[in-house]
Amino acid sequence: MTASSTLTARPVVASLKGVVRAPGDKSMSHRSLIFGGMAEGVTEIEGLLEGDDILATARAVEAFGAKVERLGEGRWRVTGQGGFTTPEAVIDCGNAGTGVRLLMGAAAGYELTAVFDGDASLRKRPMKRVTGPLADMGARFDWNAAEDRVPLTLHGGNLGGVEYVQTVASAQIKSAILLAGLNATGETVVVEPEKSRDHTERMLRAFCAAVDVTEEGEGWRIRLTGGQKLSGTHVAVPGDPSSAAFPLAAALIVPGSEVTVEGVMLNPQRTGLFDTWIEMGADLTITNRRVSGGEDVGDITARHSALKGVVVPEDRAASMIDEYPILSAVAAYAEGRTVMRGIGEMRVKESDRIALMVAGLSACGVAVEEEAEGFIVTGGPVKGGATVATAHDHRIAMSHLVLGLAAEQPVSVLDPEMIATSFPGFVDMMNGLGGDIGSDAA
Ligand code: S3P
Repeated sequence: MTASSTLTARPVVASLKGVVRAPGDKSMSHRSLIFGGMAEGVTEIEGLLEGDDILATARAVEAFGAKVERLGEGRWRVTGQGGFTTPEAVIDCGNAGTGVRLLMGAAAGYELTAVFDGDASLRKRPMKRVTGPLADMGARFDWNAAEDRVPLTLHGGNLGGVEYVQTVASAQIKSAILLAGLNATGETVVVEPEKSRDHTERMLRAFCAAVDVTEEGEGWRIRLTGGQKLSGTHVAVPGDPSSAAFPLAAALIVPGSEVTVEGVMLNPQRTGLFDTWIEMGADLTITNRRVSGGEDVGDITARHSALKGVVVPEDRAASMIDEYPILSAVAAYAEGRTVMRGIGEMRVKESDRIALMVAGLSACGVAVEEEAEGFIVTGGPVKGGATVATAHDHRIAMSHLVLGLAAEQPVSVLDPEMIATSFPGFVDMMNGLGGDIGSDAA
């Protein structure tokens, strides 16, 4: 597929039916490789997402001195040497904000020098939110091109613990500080006024680190003591709720559909979208609830539903920050207004996701109002018949393709190759359910 290619979703004539498995969770996949690389001994991972973002992290962990082997589909082994060493080449994190920020935090605790870089999208994303607190701990950074951006050079080692009070609910910032804190002197404390996903805290414990988490107001106070060694372990990565959202969304909007996604992680800091859909009137059922890899997991079935617009509570944003693009596509088929506010963070993801969704939905005939920190979608007939820019953002591409499955006319997306960063089998899965997504022009 070339950089100027397109993918087109055509309106589904019949309905979507079937049972599928979501790809491995992206957040947990990054963490399992990074923690395995920092640990002493062997970490066996099953269910790893083999998307481009994760493969970049696997290469980075290897460059920092660990042995990384692919044993089979989703089965990987990381043999850590109990710390990172200076890599020979630039650490290229590709498109992955999580990869680069967590790796910087992990690497900052060791006496090494490393250059971090990424693709054109990653080079536009803010890095001071992580380098700032890491510098407070004693790490040094050189901006190699522009301030606040990769490429940058990190000089790590000799850190001291800090107490850091988050101003945005960001698991990436929290995780970077905690990983650095493992190799800092004294205590490292992160206070989050609002809870963000807690995979780092959970998984650190699985790697035998002591992490103390207490509730504080609406959020958490997380504490760990420096000088702790991680020990290799076994990690079972459950299905990614952010990816499961796409086939489930398609089932909600295509008449007559019923789709089940098995093995979806149901960590309460990740399920805001499902709560919102249920408030909109979605026929969504969760069965076979179980615990796997230290996380709640279940099978989710979505059936075509008559949906109503809702006001999404702003304090739910952190638990569904990656899901507003697909929520807005579904909202286009709901009766009335869906109000999404308090989501300024969306503008600094892989793209300015508010601007891109507003432009794409409008081009498809959907009524959208843009605000500085949010947007409002009014449902109605979705005309489609447009080719939409994605700014190389996987979730913008998948959201518009799902939109196109129920529109009056086909919807095409530009530069869809980035879908492989998080959901390599997306097109085959959607077509296997009865969708019609292909690379022919509309
Ligand atoms: C992630 C945290 C979120 C999310 C990203 C993955 C993580 O970012 O958008 O896709 O794995 O920690 P922020 O924590 O910066 O909001």
